[in-house]
Amino acid sequence: MEFTITQLAADKQTSDCLLVAIYEEKQLSSTATQLDSLSNGHLSRLLDEGDLEGKIGQTLMLHNVANHLPNVQAKRILLVGCGKKQDELSERQYQQIVSKAFTALAASNAQSAVSFLNEVTLKQRGAYWKVRFAIEAVQQARYQFEQFKSKKSDNRRVLQTIEFYSESDDLAKTTQALRHATAIADGVKAAKDVANCPPNVCNPAYLAERAQELAVQSDFINTTIIDEAQMAELNMNAYLAVSRGSQNPAFMSVIDYKNHPNPQAKPIVLVGKGLTFDAGGISLKPAAEMDEMKYDMGGAASVYGVMKAVAELKLPLNIIAVLAGCENLPDGNAYRPGDILTTMNGLTVEVLNTDAEGRLVLCDALTYVERFEPEVVIDVATLTGACVVALGQHNSGLISPDDQLAQQLAHAAQQAQDKAWRLPLSEEYQEQLKSNFADLANIGGRWGGAITAGAFLSNFTKNYTWAHLDIAGTAWKSGAEKGATGRPVALLVQYLLNKADSAH
Ligand code: BES
Ligand code: MN
Ligand code: ZN
Repeated sequence: MEFTITQLAADKQTSDCLLVAIYEEKQLSSTATQLDSLSNGHLSRLLDEGDLEGKIGQTLMLHNVANHLPNVQAKRILLVGCGKKQDELSERQYQQIVSKAFTALAASNAQSAVSFLNEVTLKQRGAYWKVRFAIEAVQQARYQFEQFKSKKSDNRRVLQTIEFYSESDDLAKTTQALRHATAIADGVKAAKDVANCPPNVCNPAYLAERAQELAVQSDFINTTIIDEAQMAELNMNAYLAVSRGSQNPAFMSVIDYKNHPNPQAKPIVLVGKGLTFDAGGISLKPAAEMDEMKYDMGGAASVYGVMKAVAELKLPLNIIAVLAGCENLPDGNAYRPGDILTTMNGLTVEVLNTDAEGRLVLCDALTYVERFEPEVVIDVATLTGACVVALGQHNSGLISPDDQLAQQLAHAAQQAQDKAWRLPLSEEYQEQLKSNFADLANIGGRWGGAITAGAFLSNFTKNYTWAHLDIAGTAWKSGAEKGATGRPVALLVQYLLNKADSAH
């Protein structure tokens, strides 16, 4: 799909379809008013007939426009209900409107369309955000994962270009929005594709191959792969313990993106949990929905997607992304409850549950990245079911001892509408991780599980500024709509866009 900006008014457009806003109580947008007067009130008469109430997300496709609106050159007009004219739309309502409009458009035989939906009013959001959210919503609605279906869906897929009308005053902003949104949408798609990939194909080696591919695609990227022998030399014994039950060896990919005007600039480090399957190990998970544990690499998938977007945008930053690939299975050689592991930073951990494996992989990855002397480190992980209990599926959990970093991430989440909510991290939680036999236990009891997981990680992040995103509830959807969401790619790219903005 191609997206462009146009400055031609509706009557001059020769497109296959115009997307035009209509409001409740038969109110027309200014483009609709213009078309209405060009056609001696044809649109008003349609609304009088009552076929379109203008409610949010309602659509009415007018075909064969030349017959009824002789002064309009476009072939079709899609009237799009946008609610009450005086109301400001929420971001979510706007995204719903765009999705519905796109679905109606895709069902027609139009190859091209021009959107005049920039006329609606969005709470506190100008032209930039309307284009940005529209492109993201269209790509979201279009996404399908059919790599493993022998018959692809028979969508006609004739639609090829969507143009967004922009006033000249907004041209710079809308052009930038288009650039940002396409990169973010590409990153989200890349993240979804790897995350949806089945665990017999997407194993730790597969993640490493994707990481190496990035270096081929971008001149700014170099990728290094750390294998199990190197992990052993580095004393990454917690990470290795988790991997021991699997026949698929662990690989940790280090994706080094360098494009800061000052090559010495400290990097922003992103670390993604990459459990390509988490059966729980000896502390085996129940059978129901265990297939969804292929998504336990959602952190790595999103970090990978972020790097795709960053490379496409050529952001003037230094960024290092780590995909901590691993598989957690029960086996005769698997690690056990009761085992005591010596982590890379020297702290010992008593394993009380082999299903709390993410923090064991991450603690060594987080120690490893100290060598980059990072400006900040952000880890992204489908870490705890407890986070889903706490926040549901709409907000990722955000934990950080650093208020400034926490605020920057919360702000980016709000801007990008890829929501995150901060959880507290105070000393008391640390006490839940006491072990009778080692420095730390790998679980902290029943209460506040998302936080005790964060508290566990905080023992390994003392030498830099750090934040943790628990995406257990947000990385994928279950049930009829089962599939990866590509979250939190938009949040993280927004954070990096803000960083690039403030630094230069
Ligand atoms: N990958 C899971 C977390 C998870 C569970 C994400 C369900 C999404 C849905 C993680 O490795 C895990 O198993 N965590 C345990 C921790 C517990 C043993 C302290 C959990 O949340 O149950
Ligand atoms: Mn687990
Ligand atoms: Zn897990």
